[in-house]
Amino acid sequence: MKKFYVTTPIYYPSGKFHIGTAYTTVLADTVKRYKQLRGYDTFMLTGTDEHGQKIQTVAEKQGKTPQEHVDEMAKMAKDLWSLMDINYDFFLRTTDVKHVEIVQKIFEYFLQKGDIYKGHYEGLYCMPCESYFTESQLVDGKCPDCGREVKLMKEEAYFFNMKKYADKLLKYYEEHPDFIQPEYRKTEMINNFIKPGLEDLCVTRTTFDWGIKVPSDPKHVIYVWLDALTNYLTALGYMSDDDTLFKKYWPADLQIIGKDIARFHLIYWPIFLMALDLPLPKKILVHNWIMMKDGKMSKSVGNVVYPEKLISRYGLDATRYYLLREMPESQDEIYTPENFISRYNSDLCNDLGNLVNRTVSMVNKYFEGKVPEYNGTPNEVDKEFEEYTEKQVDLIEKTIDNYEMSPALQEIWSLISRTNKYIDETRPWELAKNEETEKLKSTMYHLIENIRKIGIILLPFMSETSKNLLNQIGIPEELQTWDNLKKYDGLKDIKVIEKGQPLFIRKNVEEEMEYLKN
Ligand code: MSP
Repeated sequence: MKKFYVTTPIYYPSGKFHIGTAYTTVLADTVKRYKQLRGYDTFMLTGTDEHGQKIQTVAEKQGKTPQEHVDEMAKMAKDLWSLMDINYDFFLRTTDVKHVEIVQKIFEYFLQKGDIYKGHYEGLYCMPCESYFTESQLVDGKCPDCGREVKLMKEEAYFFNMKKYADKLLKYYEEHPDFIQPEYRKTEMINNFIKPGLEDLCVTRTTFDWGIKVPSDPKHVIYVWLDALTNYLTALGYMSDDDTLFKKYWPADLQIIGKDIARFHLIYWPIFLMALDLPLPKKILVHNWIMMKDGKMSKSVGNVVYPEKLISRYGLDATRYYLLREMPESQDEIYTPENFISRYNSDLCNDLGNLVNRTVSMVNKYFEGKVPEYNGTPNEVDKEFEEYTEKQVDLIEKTIDNYEMSPALQEIWSLISRTNKYIDETRPWELAKNEETEKLKSTMYHLIENIRKIGIILLPFMSETSKNLLNQIGIPEELQTWDNLKKYDGLKDIKVIEKGQPLFIRKNVEEEMEYLKN
């Protein structure tokens, strides 16, 4: 069986997750479900990135120990993923003992190999904020965070020799054009970071202690990104007593990340892997951000949208649909309540919901719920409809294979629209009135066939809705497969339910705007 290993970033557990942060995970979950449907043995990883100064500070502010704080936050993350029906196989916490031990082994290995060396870190330091800044980050020569004086400081630190790997990385990019998607992210890395000269990376800190200690020099803690990135390996038992999963699933087939963490994943991560002599992931997919009209979602601005708010009123599938549909690869997307409701009412209620409802009631009315069998010879109208559908399903499949979920959903909705149009073209009510029974049978058959296809294609995106839809049209489990998606010959002894249930119920726009106001 072919395997498929997909990862999300591990999240900073500093506060509740909003719809932007949830997007990465919904995307990974959709890919995983699709691959499963295509017969892959899949493994999906997510988790929490629990070390570092930021976490320590947040915990202190709340009067908790860092461990108490991250325990609560990891639970919060798991609860959200369970609400969002995220099908991960492993949830990694960087405070897990197993992870900690392997990170330490990796650090010592790099040290012994000479990839990590001891030196001095020099920079402008803000004491109260315990942070280093570069000259250009300062605001009026002062700390950009608190506005206080900064001091030139020098401390002992360990560095990773990035320079050594720069050419090898460039060569790898060149020889593996599919490694980074979209391609312009690679160009950004080359032009902004590699060509100007890759700096060695400071991989330890001594200014706080909430982190993994360097075993041979425990006053240093390991830099949070070296700790965090290795989670993709430690989750599989790399370097541990049981590395069965590692042997089975590494290299990752797809690693999904947001644009803000591109540099860490497209430069440092491949270099760490090269230093470990490990194969690199097959693809790193970088997505853009969900923004608000007034910029980034932020607690202090008060413009944050939480997934729970959308899910409790519109359901999980509508929320997932919105996130996946709205996020193009090429730019950031602005969330607006108007847009959310419009997608809900027009795409889900009108286009999809009505198609299913109309069809179920016609099959009941004209054939007592029994789907007519196909006679195998399409008339002119049906033939064109079949040809369009076959091509469209191919296109949808290619688009999903390329992990382009928003364009894929657009194409799925074209198929839905075309199927709705087929009803208007064939006018089943007139066929019934004129007793054109053969044509009417063929029309009902084709409608149910297309709805079956739509239902199967939508399974990875909106699984509950798809299952409900497939149940309503009486499709047994064995026909809910991708394999015979492209054929027109599958339906025998199918009976739709007696009374269709609306998949989505139309909402009043004004009432919803009121609800969605922040
Ligand atoms: N802890 C690091 C990742 C370490 S991976 C080895 C981190 N965590 S995070 O919680 O800040 O971000 C998690 C994911 O959410 C990232 O992929 C990030 O890009 C994504 N997003 C955060 N805000 C977002 C939006 N507004 N829109 C879309 N994605 C967003 O980074």
